[in-house]
Amino acid sequence: MTHATLLLGQTLRFAASPFADGPEAAVHDSRGGVLIRDGIIAEVGHGPDLRAAHPQARVVDCGNALLSAGFVDAHAHYPQTAMIASWGKRLIDWLNSYTFPEEMRFADPDYAARIAARYFDLVTAHGTTTVCSFATIHPASVDAFFAEAQARGLRMLTGKTCMDRNAPDGLRDTAQSAHDDSRALLGRWHGVDRLSYVITPRFSPTSTPEQLEALGALWAEHPDCLMQTHLSEQTDEIDWVKSLYPGARDYLDTYESHGLLGARGLYGHAIHLEPREKDRLAEVGAALVHCPTSNTFIGSGLFDMAGLMAAGQRVGLATDTGGGSSFSMLRTMAAAYEIGQLRGTALHPAQLWWLATQGSARALHLGDRIGNLAPGMEADIIAVDLASTPAIAQRHAEAEDIWESLFPTIMMGDDRAIRAVWVGGAPKTMVNAA
Ligand code: GUN
Ligand code: ZN
Repeated sequence: MTHATLLLGQTLRFAASPFADGPEAAVHDSRGGVLIRDGIIAEVGHGPDLRAAHPQARVVDCGNALLSAGFVDAHAHYPQTAMIASWGKRLIDWLNSYTFPEEMRFADPDYAARIAARYFDLVTAHGTTTVCSFATIHPASVDAFFAEAQARGLRMLTGKTCMDRNAPDGLRDTAQSAHDDSRALLGRWHGVDRLSYVITPRFSPTSTPEQLEALGALWAEHPDCLMQTHLSEQTDEIDWVKSLYPGARDYLDTYESHGLLGARGLYGHAIHLEPREKDRLAEVGAALVHCPTSNTFIGSGLFDMAGLMAAGQRVGLATDTGGGSSFSMLRTMAAAYEIGQLRGTALHPAQLWWLATQGSARALHLGDRIGNLAPGMEADIIAVDLASTPAIAQRHAEAEDIWESLFPTIMMGDDRAIRAVWVGGAPKTMVNAA
């Protein structure tokens, strides 16, 4: 008989989206339980009932900690780990001054392997169990990321970042090599264990129309793959795109006219959208990825969460490290809340938590496998300490319901709040375990 593990603690899961159905879409049990068998969630229920029904299960009692699905980061750049928090530039200067020189170092496969290991240590300590990351132009940067993720049993996504213009020597491919290298990597990794290959043109300014066309053709050949890129992050970037693509109707059209718009497309930032762009994105069911710490850090603008959600867009949440200033999805939720406030809409804690788990999982078309506590889902689970620092603990002590309990951790929490992480049902050793 298969060995089962029963996690006990408070539990938080989603029966529906809190954007559609309000906070009641979240289901909280102050004495909940999650039964895991063979890396999969077998049952979620009331802790004492599950304990009585499964006396053979190995019990892990997490006390008052909150058991939740692990966080899902829908847009990040693992190669930017070592240059996060670089001072004083806006997007284009930031890319040229800090990002491209760092990405150049990934020509060395050993460096790529070292950063991949460091990156997974960091994100796991922060409670993130799935990331959709950009790599660099070097195929070895994809191999390093996937090999490390595979060894750790993680569900992870990445792709070779394609650029054939407006990038320095040593950091450019060609339309043909981008296509061929991406296809080879896709063949090697896509669908292996818990890994997915993502077709990855960086953004229109660093691709020729020929390169976008070649990657659009590759996507058409592999429609089950996701495609990720950047869209309308800063206003001078948009002006640049217009000058590089004079025939395009708008920024989105540079992707659309080259076969790079679809339901499995992920468009990072998407801040300064034209009405036509919003209509088309909603029509095809593409995913917009909100990167709030990045958007404030690089000075990009205020994502219209309320308006886009009301329009029925598919939206995920992401750190965008290292344009984003944190590896923490807690910090990312806090920044999303603050941007909501600046736009006149206070996001409910249930909405923030949903975005960081099920919302991002849906953006990645993985909502039926990760991002929630439900039978049949993969057992990527975190235990969150809701009183992880003195400042949070004293506020938490005054709380009268789960949302008042959780919100101080959302606003003030970091990796110290992540007490335990299970990946595919297996416990991970925590750097910050007490
Ligand atoms: N646009 C193109 N590349 C990047 C990147 O690496 N980070 C961010 N934030 N925006 C981009
Ligand atoms: Zn990005």
